[in-house]
Amino acid sequence: MMDEYPEKTKSSRPGYNFLLHIHPRKVRPETLRFNLTFGLGGMAALLIVIQVFTGLLLKFHYIPSPENAYNSVISINENLLFGKMTHNLHHWSAILLLWITFLHMLRVFFTGAYRKPRHITWIIGIVLLILVVLSNFTGYLLPWDQLSYWAVTISTSLLQYIPLIGTASREALLGGQEVTSATLSNFFNLHTGIIPLLIIALMSYHFWRIRKAGGVIVPESVKETSLVDSYPNLVAREFVVGLVLLAVLLAISVIFDAPIRERANPSFSPNPAKAPWYFMGLQELLIHFHPFFAVVVFPLTIILGTVFLPYFRLTDSNHGIWFLSETGRQSGKYASAAGTLFTIIFILISELLPDPETVLPAFPSIVANGIIPFVIVISTGFLFMKYLQRRFLINRSEYIQAVLIIMVTSYSILSITGILFRGEGMALIWPWQM
Ligand code: HEM
Ligand code: HEM
Repeated sequence: MMDEYPEKTKSSRPGYNFLLHIHPRKVRPETLRFNLTFGLGGMAALLIVIQVFTGLLLKFHYIPSPENAYNSVISINENLLFGKMTHNLHHWSAILLLWITFLHMLRVFFTGAYRKPRHITWIIGIVLLILVVLSNFTGYLLPWDQLSYWAVTISTSLLQYIPLIGTASREALLGGQEVTSATLSNFFNLHTGIIPLLIIALMSYHFWRIRKAGGVIVPESVKETSLVDSYPNLVAREFVVGLVLLAVLLAISVIFDAPIRERANPSFSPNPAKAPWYFMGLQELLIHFHPFFAVVVFPLTIILGTVFLPYFRLTDSNHGIWFLSETGRQSGKYASAAGTLFTIIFILISELLPDPETVLPAFPSIVANGIIPFVIVISTGFLFMKYLQRRFLINRSEYIQAVLIIMVTSYSILSITGILFRGEGMALIWPWQM
């Protein structure tokens, strides 16, 4: 029988080649430009594959019980062929995945790709980011060393500040009042079962939605250009990005070992006991605000704000352009400077002035330490945004962009302060005094 596909195009038959199965046959040449996407979505996908692969290998030897977990990780490192390498790869790739997913979210945001018809892709993305954080967090406990035990103790204690459901959800997650063998078992099952399954399912849906929206976003001006074949144009580029990422990851894993401290000791808490680095901004916020504001109001506002972002009424159509316009770029620079400066000033004022609860004894703590500083922070932000609007005549999309930049820089400064500048009793110190 005659082949209905000429030999030359055999590899581009639908279904013939797996790589083509997950790509459209043709793409806009503009989407091949590296600095449109920086290949970040593809990198995140590759890192997830690496996590699943190395995770499944680790699972052959890892034992999820407080008596054996620590020794099994040490034994993976010392007794297994390529055990240390697999462990290192899993550790560094997890951190890289969190960074890359976050940067991918920023790239999507700054090119305006969160709007319809990509709104569902955006929302699925937020759930994916939360799942990536949760896989990092559940994995953190598994080595069962002093670092992981106390970081999980500190982080899960934050949950109890959530009204009504806080204590119950904390106990459900821990399988009791504190971190025990039940917690390790819960975390292990979440980490190696439910969370990866959810990630894979949602990632597939994420990909399908991207294709349904007609591929990656491009500016209106280049929409009419003729299409080019995905193979080899797109696939070859992805291959190069994948190889470079793999090379970097391998180099890091050869040079740096995944840190492991002494075995967990539930009766000896290190001082300071810090949460994992990605939650340090929250722990720092807790020093300055009433827990209800630090653990509920701020995070919930950010999560709801990002979920409902695509539904804000925006009139401009500057899609696919980084920072949306030149004014967007300029106001963005001001916003990042303001976010950095205001946060540093706020931390210093909060450290140097006496505690609001002692100055205002007549007020309940939630007012003195919560509502009052919250109103001050929000009003400062609001006044700054008014100034930015007047100075650059920014539109609504650029306004939202500046607000996000302020939030991201503030959280970064809070995290850096918590990680590098907090010593014993969480007092402010210089990093070299640690
Ligand atoms: C998005 C996916 C994943 C992330 C972000 C992730 C993250 C982590 C992290 C941060 C650790 C602690 C490693 C250390 O610092 O020493 C860890 C440990 C572990 N993970 Fe994962 N993981 C993922 C997927 C998986 C999967 C799919 C499996 C298996 C089915 C798995 C199995 C394990 C095991 C057995 C350990 C304990 C051994 C060790 O500490 O190396 N992980 N994971
Ligand atoms: C596990 C994490 C994720 C994976 C594997 C992933 C994968 C991808 C890939 C491969 C693309 C197309 C190429 C590119 O833009 O680089 C993409 C696009 C997209 N992603 Fe993600 N993504 C993840 C997380 C997120 C997050 C956290 C968000 C936002 C909150 C998001 C929102 C989007 C949107 C809206 C698009 C379409 C962009 C456009 O059309 O230009 N994704 N994603």
